[in-house]
Amino acid sequence: MTPVEPLLGRLPHLAYGGDYNAEQWPEEVWREDVRLMREAGVNLATVGVFAWSVLQPRPGDFEFGWLDRLLDLLHDGGIGVDLATATASPPPWLTHQHSEVLPVAEDGSRLWPGSRQHYCPSSPVYREAAARLVEALASRYAGHPSLVLWHAGNEYACHVPACWCDVSAEAFRDWLRRRYSTIEALNDAWGTTFWSQRYSDWAEVLPPRRAPTFRNPTQELDFRRFSSDELLRCFELEREALGRLSPGVPVTTNFMGFFAPLDYWRWAQREDVVSNDAYPDPSDPLSPMRAAMTGDLMRSLGRGRPEQTSSRVNWRQRNVAKAPGQMRLWSLQAVARGADGILFFQWRQSRAGAEKFHSAMVPHGPPEASPPWREVVRLGADLRRLDAVCGSRVRADVAVLFDWESWWALELPAKPSSDLRLMDQVEACYAPLYRANVTVDFVPPSADLSGYRLAVVPNLYLVRDEDAERLRRFVAGGGTLVLSFFSGIVDESDHVRLGGYPAPFADLLGLRVDDFHPLAAGERVTLSFRDGNTGEGELWSELITARGADVLATFEGGDLDGRPAVTRSAFGQGAAYYVGTRPDQASMGRLLAAAAAEAGVEPAALVPAGVEAVRRHTTGGTLLFLLNQGAGATEVSVAAGGVDLLTGEAVPEGTWSLPGRGVAIVRLEGASPG
Ligand code: GLA
Ligand code: GLA
Repeated sequence: MTPVEPLLGRLPHLAYGGDYNAEQWPEEVWREDVRLMREAGVNLATVGVFAWSVLQPRPGDFEFGWLDRLLDLLHDGGIGVDLATATASPPPWLTHQHSEVLPVAEDGSRLWPGSRQHYCPSSPVYREAAARLVEALASRYAGHPSLVLWHAGNEYACHVPACWCDVSAEAFRDWLRRRYSTIEALNDAWGTTFWSQRYSDWAEVLPPRRAPTFRNPTQELDFRRFSSDELLRCFELEREALGRLSPGVPVTTNFMGFFAPLDYWRWAQREDVVSNDAYPDPSDPLSPMRAAMTGDLMRSLGRGRPEQTSSRVNWRQRNVAKAPGQMRLWSLQAVARGADGILFFQWRQSRAGAEKFHSAMVPHGPPEASPPWREVVRLGADLRRLDAVCGSRVRADVAVLFDWESWWALELPAKPSSDLRLMDQVEACYAPLYRANVTVDFVPPSADLSGYRLAVVPNLYLVRDEDAERLRRFVAGGGTLVLSFFSGIVDESDHVRLGGYPAPFADLLGLRVDDFHPLAAGERVTLSFRDGNTGEGELWSELITARGADVLATFEGGDLDGRPAVTRSAFGQGAAYYVGTRPDQASMGRLLAAAAAEAGVEPAALVPAGVEAVRRHTTGGTLLFLLNQGAGATEVSVAAGGVDLLTGEAVPEGTWSLPGRGVAIVRLEGASPG
């Protein structure tokens, strides 16, 4: 994966701008737009994301004149272009002539045109039409001096994560043939002796369409794998055309955070620049933590270039506006966690269509009367002061293991508890680390963990032999591991690993899980810790037999009274903690703090609660981001002092006040170069 350098080479500063849907506006407005973009410090505009029907109004008829004029105008204004391939919303003529392009839901109903993303990813008709458009765009604009980046498709799998039509069924069979070679191997992997599902011929195999009751879980799991791959193929077809006709220009598409349908580990390898759409809900107090978590994922995938809104979205039931300063704060939070650019949806707020109440950088009314516009201008000025951030790196000693395949398998139905949701488990581990300002990377199960001190593995239900072995080696070599319940239960075919749960980790953990005791809705179990603390567990409990592990906490009361709940086991040079329930946040915080201390992991800074601290390292030194997520001012201190890049002023040694929703980016004095 190539990180952001290709982008940085083309832009003198951090990227700043947004989706510019200029085709929605008369050309007189464009000149005003360029003037306002310059006022706001915009240097990158994403052009044409939904312009297919305007670019190609009829099958054989391309209209590029307007785009020529637009790109020239932007270029003259000093604004770079992230040119979209415009393939996310096929034009009416295509679906009118070829209704088979339209996707089919699992119950056999076809989705109609009239919104967006209404295409079957496997459709050869769609793929050919998309390729023609991409080739036409790439041949025309490859050499345009404004071109900085290509934006392929848009939010792949948004709205339509998969298609169940007959064309998709054929593509699914091809994918399965490549995976299994023989129908016998497929029968084995899918466990088809269960409920009389044995196939005698490939032609009998279908996508998991609506059925009387639970469908074959391995069929479902493979269909998730296939659907992610199939959309990736659409992206790759565009990427190949762009690489051929517009060589050297980086290609991105926008991710959507922890988005279940697509295995972003696989996707990110094919991207030159990782981009993310970030829409934290201002009404949710957990938003800063969740946004941090997403920022860490994007950095781990590559490098972020988040897309967001200036104030309000329009797709929630209630669209709460961002508080003054919150847009700036959350933008700089993304930068703190690795983003090298901030882009909005969208530049100018639409006057028609389904997103006309979604706020934008330029509002419906006069910009000068709009507080969000003033914040947009301020942020533009801030980002111009952050050239030192460009290309700098965040380093983490903690890896949180995250796997899409295990996520899919875990959340298929018919488990001991349907309340098991991977993201809840990930957040339960992430939130205490976030509050302690311990920086984490996310890693796939195949990652080399040797650069980390602590690995946190939430609920890794599905694990491959080699990945389980990698975790064992990590601990044996001196790493510290925290593993939570219902991990190591099945292999990649979703077949239970026999011999006592969690079979691949039992010796590493020094225990055996003899039975699962999922908790009823709202039920809590008391946890009694050996250090004298008590806590509560929710969601899950289990019958654990310690076989060498130290018991750190036991369940109290009920059927599991006195039995282990949390354990620690020395293994090789390292140690493995196991958590057999979901402890309350305070207990989880203490447990992770103990594991982090044992592993020698330090926080990015010691600051009061509510202040987020992250470090980015440059070749010349260290930049400490301090972000006050609270509404009130708070006292902070930075050991050796430094200079705040945002103000250019010296940061004193002792304590000083960071305003509510304020940000300081301190170039640390005397910090060793990174
Ligand atoms: C019924 C069915 C069985 C099995 C059980 C599950 O008894 O006949 O095949 O599905 O329910 O509880
Ligand atoms: C994403 C999409 C945009 C728009 C916004 C709305 O960013 O890419 O086209 O729909 O969401 O929030």
